[in-house]
Amino acid sequence: MEKMKFVLIGCGRIATLHVAGYKDRDDAVLYGVYDKKKTAAEDFAKEYGIEKVYDTYEDVLNDPDVTGVEILVPHHLHCALTIQACNAKKHVSVQKPMAMNLEECDKMIAAAKENGVKLKVFENFVHYPPYLRAKKLIAEGEIGEIKGVRYKMNNGGLCSINVPAAKMRAKMGGAAEVELPPTGWKVDPLSWTWRLNETLSGGGPVVFDDGYHKFSIFIDLIGDVEKVSAWIDETPVLPGVTQDSPAVVMWKYKDKKVYGVWDITASEDLYIKGKYYTCDERMEITGSRGILWLTRCTAEMLPVAPLIMYKDGKMTEFRDDPCDWQDAFINSTHDFIDCIKYDRDPILTGEKGREVLKFALAAIDSSKKNSEIILDSYEDKPVPKKKGVLSIFFKKKK
Ligand SMILES: NC(=O)c1ccc[n+]([C@@H]2O[C@H](COP(=O)([O-])OP(=O)(O)OC[C@H]3O[C@@H](n4cnc5c(N)ncnc54)[C@H](O)[C@@H]3O)[C@@H](O)[C@H]2O)c1
Repeated sequence: MEKMKFVLIGCGRIATLHVAGYKDRDDAVLYGVYDKKKTAAEDFAKEYGIEKVYDTYEDVLNDPDVTGVEILVPHHLHCALTIQACNAKKHVSVQKPMAMNLEECDKMIAAAKENGVKLKVFENFVHYPPYLRAKKLIAEGEIGEIKGVRYKMNNGGLCSINVPAAKMRAKMGGAAEVELPPTGWKVDPLSWTWRLNETLSGGGPVVFDDGYHKFSIFIDLIGDVEKVSAWIDETPVLPGVTQDSPAVVMWKYKDKKVYGVWDITASEDLYIKGKYYTCDERMEITGSRGILWLTRCTAEMLPVAPLIMYKDGKMTEFRDDPCDWQDAFINSTHDFIDCIKYDRDPILTGEKGREVLKFALAAIDSSKKNSEIILDSYEDKPVPKKKGVLSIFFKKKK
């Protein structure tokens, strides 16, 4: 059987986790890469043994051998690159967040429909194996009817090579006082410059950007949301640059007396062990008969089983599912390949991805307006964007 051929567009930090899902597939191959920085694509291809490096995006799209592309670039480019790929009849997987606003989502969905290609929003949390186990337990009625959901998230800093301010804090005597090995993965400073600039990222790095994962599972687990209310504060991460936390987001599901709370704390001296981003998550799903606790989606702060169930006075630990962050990426890549192969919808379609983005934008607007937002009547208005580190620098030089 001839293998379907896929190309990664953007060879930055996250691209490294998009490789493993193609290994051991006899129906698909990671055939090529393109990055506007050619050396990045060349180095990546060499490291992962990828056959082809393209010179331009148009070359990828004009290649009749290419089945689909995975768009792994800054957020302000998601819409344009997706539409171009759809018009070239290539299937598209676009990394989260789907786009900057709902209008862009609509254009992307329409382009995929008009050209008869798949549009998958690549979000990995809905594919995290312990989360899938939790969903299965819920579907089997193990904890009864879902009554509520609580999500706790800590962003740490101590000794983290991933948090921009950590190095500076260490120099100032913060992290250096404690003998701990560095944690987290290395992120190119250039990646932070677009991320902390809302005109390029679409919103803050915590609630808008990373939040897309969380809003995805809140909807995927329980369903449509009726209303949301949020407080989103700011914490300085670099001189003149802030991140969008601490924050609390609360919401009510549609047609159910079920509420959710997502509580985010920026704990700048908290040591969070992990191979990837130093962000620790704990989720508590309360049912009428039992409770599920889920953790270690990104980091590995708590050395407990990734999924624990309390029911009828007994505690059950589920330790057998793969629970490295990478495992969720592998499942998500398989979802992309399989949705094309079996001509079915991906888990997160363009339409569902739009609902997730709407939830995120409504939460952010709620905080700005200091009032709750009803999602059905929510109108996407351009959010005033904050500029990033470079714009501050250039402004000073004028
Ligand atoms: N699923 C997750 O957990 C997760 C984690 C991190 C990032 N992401 C998402 O992945 C995407 C990329 O993030 P990243 O951290 O890899 O960013 P990055 O800055 O590390 O890499 C982006 C790459 O895109 C390239 N690029 C920029 N413009 C381009 C263009 N026009 N054409 C081709 N290449 C171009 C850059 O040269 C760079 O190599 C974003 O959507 C981000 O939100 C997802």
